[in-house]
Amino acid sequence: TGSLTVGELAEKLGKEASEIIKKLMFLGVMATKNQDLDDDSIELICGEYGIAVEKEIEVEKTDLLQYIEADQEDALEERPPVVTIMGHVDHGKTTLLDSIRNTKVTEGEAGGITQHIGAYQIRTNDKKITFLDTPGHAAFTSMRSRGAQVTDIAILVVAADDGVMPQTVEAINHAKAAEVPIIVAVNKMDKEGANPDRVMQELTEYQLISEEWGGETIFVQMSALQGEGIDDLLEMILLVAEVEELKANPSKRAHGTVIEAELDKGRGSVASLLVQSGTLRVGDPIVVGSTFGRVRAMVNDLGRRVKKVGPSTPVEITGLNEVPQAGDRFVVFEDEKTARQIGELRQQKQIEERRGDRSRVSLEDLFDQI
Ligand code: GTP
Ligand code: MG
Repeated sequence: TGSLTVGELAEKLGKEASEIIKKLMFLGVMATKNQDLDDDSIELICGEYGIAVEKEIEVEKTDLLQYIEADQEDALEERPPVVTIMGHVDHGKTTLLDSIRNTKVTEGEAGGITQHIGAYQIRTNDKKITFLDTPGHAAFTSMRSRGAQVTDIAILVVAADDGVMPQTVEAINHAKAAEVPIIVAVNKMDKEGANPDRVMQELTEYQLISEEWGGETIFVQMSALQGEGIDDLLEMILLVAEVEELKANPSKRAHGTVIEAELDKGRGSVASLLVQSGTLRVGDPIVVGSTFGRVRAMVNDLGRRVKKVGPSTPVEITGLNEVPQAGDRFVVFEDEKTARQIGELRQQKQIEERRGDRSRVSLEDLFDQI
């Protein structure tokens, strides 16, 4: 919206400037005829004459990504890979996630009680790996539909006794569309009838050709149930991560993506976030999707309270005014006032989008009609 002087506003309203000045004075605003009025004052004056003004949303301000702090090249540091596990029903995704977690999470983290926050982090060979434990398809579909890319590496689980199935192909398509490297976990090798060659053969049709056969795709044979091959798989993940040169700047204000969120009876809005760059701290003013607030408390995947977390780390936060959605982006702001302002604009925009194209009245429209 453009600004108006007292005189211009008077003219638009068909009143004397002196009358407007008097009303302003009555409202506690001292103004002269040529003075610019802010939107709030304009709204107040219009209200005095029984004219409702709906402020036009400054749409250009609502794009969250513009508030991400820029990176200096030399501030970039290696960050852990974020891994999503995908594959056909019953091929062993959940078993694999549990198996990795059980064998690795508690190493050096004595007494940790694992907490379901939609993702977890393990340490192996002194390196960290983050696993998303939301179903792989959801991670790709809901998040990517919002333009969020959280996954660095996809693990394609294929049961060796079952081979390539419809959802295997779907998973391949998702990973390819997102240009995410795929590691094939040939699972259930302990089962009778396990036929890894057949899996390799079937996957050639989708350009996933094993290194053994002259291709570039890493295949790991394993049994998620018996914990066989887990270490090989983790090693391969780290290898691919190294090739990808995954980096982030830990020293700036955090930004990232919502993994999941819900309303908790006691704690209010609870959101699991994946910090993708920067460091997130308790007390940070934050906008998450169309919600906002200050990070009140943070809990990590071991259920421990933490004060700050860096890139590629999943964390659960409280302190938002409402519940955001999986796939929403979040950005930390320098001060609470700005976070609130942008958060409110985004909320308003969301409400209007939901309302559809029912027309709203902007200051300009209104004045044109007078
Ligand atoms: P959905 O979530 O339904 O898509 O299945 P999923 O891919 O998560 O499979 P899940 O881990 O639930 O495993 C399905 C069944 O296969 C379970 O009964 C597992 O115990 C079994 N299973 C998983 N991995 C292995 C394995 O390596 N060997 C054997 N023998 N059984 C396995
Ligand atoms: Mg499962």
